[in-house]
Amino acid sequence: GGASHGAGRRAGPLGGGEAEDGLPQLRGQEEREQGMRLEQEKYQLILEEDEMIDFVSTAITMKGTRTEEEEEAIALSQAEMKKQSMQEVRRSLPIFPYREDLLAAIQEHQILVIEGETGSGKTTQIPQYLLEHGYTQGGMKIGCTQPRRVAAMSVAARVAQEMSVKLGNEVGYSIRFEDCTSERTILKYMTDGMLLREFLTEPDLASYSVVIIDEAHERTLHTDILFGLIKDIARFRPDLKVLVASATLDTERFSCFFDDAPVFRIPGRRFPVDIFYTKAPEADYLEACVVSVLQIHVTQPPGDCLVFLTGQEEIEACCELLQERCRRLGSKIAELLVLPIYANLPSDMQAKIFNPPRLEPASSLCNYILGVVVVATNIAETSLTIDGIIYVIDPGFCKQKSYNARTGMESLIVTPCSRASANQRAGRAGRVAAGKCFRLYTAWAFKHEMEESTVPEIQRTNLGNVVLLLKSLGINDLIHFDFMDPPPHETLVLALEQLYALGALNHLGELTKLGRRMAELPVDPMLSKMILASEQYKCSEEVLTIAAMLSVNNSIFYRPKDKVVHADNARQNFVVPGGDHLVLLNVYTQWLESDYSTQWCYENFIQFRSMRRARDVRDQLEGLMDRIEVEVSVTAGYFYHTARLSKGGYKTVKHQQTVYVHPNSCLFEEQPRWLIYHELVFTTKEFMRQVIEIDSSWLLEVAPHYYKSKELEDSSSKKMPRKQGKAKEELG
Ligand code: CDP
Ligand code: MG
Repeated sequence: GGASHGAGRRAGPLGGGEAEDGLPQLRGQEEREQGMRLEQEKYQLILEEDEMIDFVSTAITMKGTRTEEEEEAIALSQAEMKKQSMQEVRRSLPIFPYREDLLAAIQEHQILVIEGETGSGKTTQIPQYLLEHGYTQGGMKIGCTQPRRVAAMSVAARVAQEMSVKLGNEVGYSIRFEDCTSERTILKYMTDGMLLREFLTEPDLASYSVVIIDEAHERTLHTDILFGLIKDIARFRPDLKVLVASATLDTERFSCFFDDAPVFRIPGRRFPVDIFYTKAPEADYLEACVVSVLQIHVTQPPGDCLVFLTGQEEIEACCELLQERCRRLGSKIAELLVLPIYANLPSDMQAKIFNPPRLEPASSLCNYILGVVVVATNIAETSLTIDGIIYVIDPGFCKQKSYNARTGMESLIVTPCSRASANQRAGRAGRVAAGKCFRLYTAWAFKHEMEESTVPEIQRTNLGNVVLLLKSLGINDLIHFDFMDPPPHETLVLALEQLYALGALNHLGELTKLGRRMAELPVDPMLSKMILASEQYKCSEEVLTIAAMLSVNNSIFYRPKDKVVHADNARQNFVVPGGDHLVLLNVYTQWLESDYSTQWCYENFIQFRSMRRARDVRDQLEGLMDRIEVEVSVTAGYFYHTARLSKGGYKTVKHQQTVYVHPNSCLFEEQPRWLIYHELVFTTKEFMRQVIEIDSSWLLEVAPHYYKSKELEDSSSKKMPRKQGKAKEELG
């Protein structure tokens, strides 16, 4: 832009000149041409830095299917959609023409499987149709489950908006540690885990007229358990309607499981998506994502871009890299708005995804429009639909829980996603127009290295939690529970063993009093045992804090790239002897002393939002349920997760697996002889995250049935180092 165009400089979004924020704002033909020249320079710039990624088109196009009517509906461009009234938008969704047929099918069948492309309106519309049709008469509720917290919250917010009611009144949501419902709530969105918990207080779900198990294809552990329980109660509650909603995957299997329930298909509306692969494998997919985004931004026609990464840390890193790179390129490229989305993202930030600030459509005449890039976990695969996505970048990975039933070790591992996932991801590009999907892997890898579909979670996770829940529901024969895909036998046995070891089950496999109390707490059995044991050791206050902090543990410390040294110093100041649990306790205690100050968080490089969440969690746990010996209590819950120092690293006590202290831990250098860890994470190695030093004799005190003194030899004679006493003084 040129300063010569003084008049009307800031007249509108396209007023000439260059805005202070570095976004070049162009006007008129002349400037557009200049824009084209500039664009080539930008292209060069990136090329020169030898950063281009070579994509090859494989001439694979995911076909779009459309009827004429649908063509018409699509003709309403996104911008026009924005101007429509909410009701018109509702009527333009693919599901709308099928409203009456759908309601008739529901009337006729008790159980119905509903299949529809993501974004067709299943989640937001079906509950409203049911409500409009009278299914909530007599104060009955319609429940709709979501595997993900973020989806439950954002969908409920959307529906409340469509119905012009306040969120939490007629429409609400319920997720762990957060209940946004009231007496008046008749449309209730919730995580699948929360509905599972409702069985504890209402075993026949008597207050519900309809239960929708949504996103069934995700096959989360809780959804799978719900299948079995709901199929069972549907038999003696003929008035209950059950809807199983899924993206276009696996629907035959659902039908089969629910005694051949009919499948209602909502024809999709999809534009073709061209798929590109890299010529060679990418060594660093995060970097490759960043380069691809910029490459698309400068060389492709305007359109929003969606990047799939595996988790919060990666997403934050990617966003930072992108922003940094854009800053470096300065006014040479158009502004890029980078929006992250992941499970722990605060809801006000999430809302931005659905309503990013945009320039008016006229600006699409030149390439200098504000580009939006959404960096998401696989939540954006099917649970959330972000309108306006034209480009998808898919590195082909996801974070998966994996469980070794032999050793009882569970860890989160970044693994290649399945072909089914990859295709869902690509499909996100074709919702509003023809799109492109850039896969950061080779066509060969897609064919030969990726699994056909994702293994259901029930087959790769620790079952302690659900076994405890099922036992409290009086379901004793777990071997014959109606699983859609049964878990491995060893996993079930191990879960029973673990619950027995924690004292939740007796030797007959029956629930103990302690077990019943443990089931009341919405946390993992080890955590609930730790909390309950704290009563005995008179340290409930501290343990509640630690439990709450552990539940948000990966996002407490803020470490911006440009202030790494300051951030690390700040973190160092919180270190107390003993271990990471005590550091977390220390952070919380100091924050409390600052009167929960935001400023304090800011000064100490602590994430305020995480702290606020920890406080909420703590309040809730406290609502559901006095001092020092914290370590003993942690040990009482986590004696399973014990590791002993050995050559070069640590070995887990029971299974002799080699593990390492995470470099982020305050005990990384100290390397105490005995440790308890909160979780294992596999990145480059098997790392223990959140570790605390213990005295091996405590293991005999809290778990004499599990440990033999022989296993704990070599240090039981050794006294705990003196500093331990000091830690207790400081904390007391
Ligand atoms: O469940 P399904 O994938 O079939 O579709 P949906 O989630 O009901 O989405 C229908 C429409 O609502 C889409 O156009 C979404 O973009 C929109 N929506 C939204 O604007 N905000 C949300 N929080 C959720 C959905
Ligand atoms: Mg949905």
